Amino acid sequence: MTDTGEREEGSGESESPARAGLSLPAPLSPLPSGGGRARAAVLLSGRGSNFVALADACARGEVPAEIALVVSNRSDAPGLERARERGIATVVLPSKGVPREEHEERVATAIEAARAEWVCLAGYMRLLSPAFVARFAPRILNIHPALLPSFPGLEAQHQAWECGVRVSGCTVHLVDAGCDTGPIVVQRAAPVFDGDTPDDLAARILEQEHVAYAEALRLLLTRSWRVEGRRVVFD
Ligand code: GRF
Repeated sequence: MTDTGEREEGSGESESPARAGLSLPAPLSPLPSGGGRARAAVLLSGRGSNFVALADACARGEVPAEIALVVSNRSDAPGLERARERGIATVVLPSKGVPREEHEERVATAIEAARAEWVCLAGYMRLLSPAFVARFAPRILNIHPALLPSFPGLEAQHQAWECGVRVSGCTVHLVDAGCDTGPIVVQRAAPVFDGDTPDDLAARILEQEHVAYAEALRLLLTRSWRVEGRRVVFD
């Protein structure tokens, strides 16, 4: 359904849109104030750059949500410090050596105690059971560094690079019980250039990821939508 093991995705280096040959749409503008803000929990295991991009978009008023909690299964996840710097509550719930059911119950309890209505997976290196997903569905999202359904699973950027695709990108999708199979909310493309290394491509995709998560959550919170088969349909 989401990240399926330990891995390091992307180099963390970003590249300018001009070098990437992309014409990016204008950044999201702040929404009119007045509406309520949804509460979201972010689950992460590492760097946390997607969490930072999403939290900052929320703080700028571009997404009518607030990050109420960051949960990590790793106490050394750099994303935790990024959350603390922003005054966002964090909880570390180690997964190593803990039975899956027990660990997931702790995570779910923390999310519910924070009164988070949305769960955003952002580099959370754990497979989630169908029971956990069902507890939060359909308000559980994941970001994947490829244009699904191509290249699900681990090291998606490397898989795409190795395949010689000319365009890759990222996908934000609702999480279902499968591995990176849920209904797609937003996709953003990133070109692959001759001479790119897998790290070059990962960095270019990451730039798009940092726009895509906010775009997806904003859409889901501001439009009326439903799931029809594998599709998210916006009215
Ligand atoms: C991202 O590439 C995301 O698509 C994947 O895990 C990575 C997490 O990166 N699911 P970061 O921790 O958000 O920087």
